[in-house]
Formats: sequence, C-alpha cells, structure tokens
Amino acid sequence: MKKVLVVHYSQTGQLTKVLEALCAPLIAAGVQVDQLPIVPVTPYPFPWTRMGFFGAFPESVNGDPVPLRPDTAPSAKYDLIILGYTVWFLNPSIPFNSFLKQADPALFRDTPVLTVLGVRNMWVHAQQKVRAMITALGGTPVGNIVSEDRSSNLVSLVTIIRWMFWGKKEAFSLFPPAGIREADIAANAKFAGPILDHLNSGNWAWFNAKILELGSAQIKPELLVLEKRALVLFGKYRSFILAKVDRDPGSRQKRVAILSVALPIGAFILSPITALTTFLVSLIKRKAIQREVDELLRY
Ligand SMILES: Cc1cc2nc3c(=O)[nH]c(=O)nc-3n(C[C@H](O)[C@H](O)[C@H](O)COP(=O)(O)O)c2cc1C
Repeated sequence: MKKVLVVHYSQTGQLTKVLEALCAPLIAAGVQVDQLPIVPVTPYPFPWTRMGFFGAFPESVNGDPVPLRPDTAPSAKYDLIILGYTVWFLNPSIPFNSFLKQADPALFRDTPVLTVLGVRNMWVHAQQKVRAMITALGGTPVGNIVSEDRSSNLVSLVTIIRWMFWGKKEAFSLFPPAGIREADIAANAKFAGPILDHLNSGNWAWFNAKILELGSAQIKPELLVLEKRALVLFGKYRSFILAKVDRDPGSRQKRVAILSVALPIGAFILSPITALTTFLVSLIKRKAIQREVDELLRY
C-alpha cells in the first residue's frame, strides 16, 4: 500500500478543503493518507485584529519561526509528502515556515514532495523559498499546485480584507465571495489521477508537466512584476518597523499602525497605476518574462 503524508496549516479551513478535495480520490483508490497538522503554540485568532494582522508582517517577511506543538508523522517513511501552505505577505505563512525550519530531515530524505498552495494571488517568491528549503531538507520537489482566488487583484483585495477582519466570506453587493471559489476547490480532485500514476510507477519525471497541462499553476506576468516591486518595499518597511526597537520598544507598534493604513491605501491607489505600468513593461519584455515564467513553473 502506498503511503502519503499531508502536512499543512490552515487558519480558516480553506486550505484544508483544497487538500481534502485532492486527497479524497487517493483514499478511495486505497492509498494510506496520513496527516501531520501544524499547530502553533500561540494560535493566530480569526478573524484578525488590524494590529494582529499587520503585526505579523516583520516576522513573515524575514521568515522568523514561532514555537509549534511537538508532533511527529505516524510513519517514518512515505512515498510522497504533500506540503500544504498559505502565503502571508509574499512569504510562506509563519506557522508553515516554522515547520520547515524545525522539520526532521530524516522524514524528507530522498522523498518526493508536492507543494499545494491555497492563496489570494501572489505566491511566486514564497514558492521559491519553500522549494529551496525542501531541497535543503533532502526532499525532492516534484511539482506544485496553486489554488487561488481568480477575481481581479483589486476585487480580491476588497473581499479578502472583509473576510480576514470581519470573518465575512459571502458575496455582497457586486462582489463575489472571498477566497478560492468552491468549484475551483473541488476541481483539485483532477490532480489525483496523475499522483496515483506516479505513486505507482515511483518515477516522478514529467509529473509536473502533466499537472501543468491540467492547470495546476499559472503566473500572470503583470502580477509577477508587481510582486517583485512589493518585495523590495516589504524588505525596506520591515527594517523601518524594527529600526528603533532597541532604544524605543513602543516604536514597533507605532510603525505597524502606520503600515496598517499605508499598505491598504497603497494597494488601492498605487496598485492600479503599478498594474498599468507593469502591464506595459510586460508587453515590451514579454519574451523575457515568458521565459522566466516557464522557468519558475518547471520541475
Ligand atoms: C497575514 C496574511 C497575509 C497574506 N498575504 C498574502 C499574500 O501575500 N499573497 C497571497 O496570495 N495571499 C495572502 N494571504 C491569503 C492567504 O494566503 C490565504 O489564502 C488565506 O489566509 C486563507 O488561508 P487559510 O487556509 O489559512 O484560511 C494572506 C493572508 C494573511 C492572513
């Protein structure tokens, strides 16, 4: 019997649903699917407070770990590890990043690893980081599945803010429900066939190419350019938040409070402008960007 381990952290349960849709056909086919949930010692309450949400910014951006409840996988060795994670401020979420930083390399050694993301729409940098960490643990990244909100950037910004701060996910006015659409979550079941084929053959070459054909991950050039710009700003803002903490411990909160206003305003006002310029840049450099996109999607 083939054995698969699913490791994940989901705050609202959205990513859990993605993984359930993906794994149900595997279980039905007789695969043993074990779970290793990631549980932070100090939980992240949902819905978020404004300061709680933006207070997670410096540690998310820098990849600082938090303590997790100790737990071990039910078996010592698996035919496949599925790592499910979400993205916080363009980086792997703090709980998931903490898991990777503390993980036992023995579990990963020479084991195929499939990453599964449940995000809004910006995940490329996070995935590069996670891929490098998997390799450093001795695992073999074999593919990537990204479930995302397919509304436009600004629409999903409005709906995710309402969801994260007020817990309201349902559609309102002209806006769709927040997060990944139910049909898109359910559609993850289509990747189970290729997973089963490669589990049975034990050869993961061409696996990612196959799931890409089924729509496992897409990178929009204009969002890629936007993400790169945001990453530079995020690094600078993190340094600003922490710059005076030694001399003035209260300065962190004050600077997080500024971020909590500046980031949404910046996103709403600057994002359409940036989107237009990045769109034009992406037209001019289309070939170079397409090469980069193809490279980022290759496994
Ligand atoms: C603090 C925070 C920051 C986030 N930043 C991003 C981001 O940079 N890119 C993105 O695509 N989604 C982002 N999201 C959305 C999450 O990736 C995820 O889709 C959402 O929180 C639901 O995940 P859940 O399964 O843990 O409930 C962020 C969410 C939180 C809570």
